[in-house]
Amino acid sequence: MTSSVQRKPVRKAVFPVAGLGTRFLPATKAIPKELLPVVDRPLIQYAVDEAREAGIEELIFVTGRGKTAIVEHFDTAFELEATMGGRGKSLDVLDATRVKPGNLVTVRQQVPLGLGHAIWCARAIVGDEPFAIFLPDELMIGEPGCMKQMVDAYNDVGGNLISVLEVPRNEVSSYGVIAPGEQSGALTEVTGLVEKPAVEDAPSNLIVSGRYILQPEVMRTLETQEAGAGGEIQLTDAMAKMIGTQPFHAVTFAGRRFDCGSKLGFVEATLALALEREDMGEDVRAMVTRLLG
Ligand code: UTP
Repeated sequence: MTSSVQRKPVRKAVFPVAGLGTRFLPATKAIPKELLPVVDRPLIQYAVDEAREAGIEELIFVTGRGKTAIVEHFDTAFELEATMGGRGKSLDVLDATRVKPGNLVTVRQQVPLGLGHAIWCARAIVGDEPFAIFLPDELMIGEPGCMKQMVDAYNDVGGNLISVLEVPRNEVSSYGVIAPGEQSGALTEVTGLVEKPAVEDAPSNLIVSGRYILQPEVMRTLETQEAGAGGEIQLTDAMAKMIGTQPFHAVTFAGRRFDCGSKLGFVEATLALALEREDMGEDVRAMVTRLLG
């Protein structure tokens, strides 16, 4: 296929944020996991910034009870802005939180029945066009960002795309794993998908890592999807059914991924990003050295 082929553009992004975040309790009892800050930006902000970098402006949040603060984060904070303005403080720091009116839509997942179910809840807003999915607790750091790399690949091959990365084989059981077909550069054909396989049954050590571009037909598959691993309606199972009916590729992400849904991954991300910051990196390095000493 050539890049001159016209594809329907990816204009919409779904952010499933209705999960309970039980691995982070008690922190996530009243505060959504997606608002936990890595240094000074909440996880959801990193994901939205990544979407915009990829040219995606229409944001669909699948929320649940106790998650309203995520939407507030992208609203105008009148009192804050008036007070800061009155004190002569710059409001630039809030720029990334501004969304064009009408570009943020929320739908509700009343019961967290699984990621596949959360995506299905967005079907009316997604409509009949390809769409991106971001799991905000997977923090992807790269230049260009992960979704930009995927949109570039989508413009070449179309169909469905998922981002993957290699992990040690003994870790595959916590993730969705692909069966790889033909490979060309960062693109690998996907011939099968399995959610949380036993190590001995895993078809590879390439795991699905929180970013997707899917065709709208997946919604029809999700409609009748039964519960899978963990008793949840799994997106992986619905995607697996689409293999063979539409092109399906994996993009090996050139960059770093932090699993901020786990405590260790969250601490690692915080340290890694703080160490790289121009305004504080040196001080953080000195602090870490002192702590280790
Ligand atoms: P996780 O597997 O990380 O689940 O979901 P979780 O409930 O947030 O966290 P733990 O495992 O209890 O600690 C991956 C993404 O899918 C969303 C979550 O909000 C997260 O962004 N999700 C998951 C939903 O929106 N609905 C669901 O039913 C399940």
